[in-house]
Amino acid sequence: MKIIDSIIHMQALAIAPEREGRRIAFVPTMGYLHEGHASLLREGRKRGDVLVLSIFVNPIQFGKNEDLDRYPRNMERDCQIADACGVDIVFIPNAAEMYPAGFQAGVTVRDISQPLCGASRPGHFDGVATVVAKLFNIVRPDVALFGCKDYQQLAVIRRMTADLNMPVEIVGMPIVREVDGLAMSSRNAYLAPSERQSALCLFRAVKLARELYAAGERSIAVLTREARAVIEQEPVAEIDYVEFRDGEMLHEQEIADDSTLLALAVKIGQTRLIDNTVLGEEL
Ligand code: PAF
Repeated sequence: MKIIDSIIHMQALAIAPEREGRRIAFVPTMGYLHEGHASLLREGRKRGDVLVLSIFVNPIQFGKNEDLDRYPRNMERDCQIADACGVDIVFIPNAAEMYPAGFQAGVTVRDISQPLCGASRPGHFDGVATVVAKLFNIVRPDVALFGCKDYQQLAVIRRMTADLNMPVEIVGMPIVREVDGLAMSSRNAYLAPSERQSALCLFRAVKLARELYAAGERSIAVLTREARAVIEQEPVAEIDYVEFRDGEMLHEQEIADDSTLLALAVKIGQTRLIDNTVLGEEL
């Protein structure tokens, strides 16, 4: 497994497979890998001849008062996981390499970036779209894999790739959960043991909404009220949003159908967690 920190070197390594018709599969991450990332890497291994993982805590997708400085990092462990998953190249640029003095460009994916996390984290999806566009130009993948836990991020990336005619197949992989249902996230590492218990209210809300929908409830007003009530029962939980929207363009809806997305963001103490489910899809 090669570990590369320079853009020029990474671009040079991507040229040979392209010329030889070998497919590059790419998993972009911010590191502190968990089983969710490992599932992307294993799928990437199947879909590509060369498997590239990037680890870059992207400063421009963090707001001023967010957790950029304390975002968890463990490069040694990440490399062990990468190796075990069959990664060929780990690309680990630093911020000066990615954003040298004078950097000005940016990618905006307009409407789909506005609601949900876009409303509470202004500029976040511009930062995500910009870094993913850069990474695509550096790694030149045929296929890139992302987790569905970041549902809106995946929608933004799909839109960007289609709108800008990027020749990359985007694959969304199912949310990986702990045995008790908590969606895996690098940010779970921030949770104290009692907060870890409280964090289960997100999954409880997901489950209840799915049960109500399966039992025939279609009113978004009712589903929203019931899902919020589950979270409000948890004293340390502070709702950022609990919203049902159409799963493609993320528009508001009044009546739920199989493609309706429930998306939620909840602060547990200082830690902001997200989760989601599409009502007609398997959990
Ligand atoms: O999901 C993430 O880890 C990041 O948002 C991504 C896609 C690697 C861009 O920095």
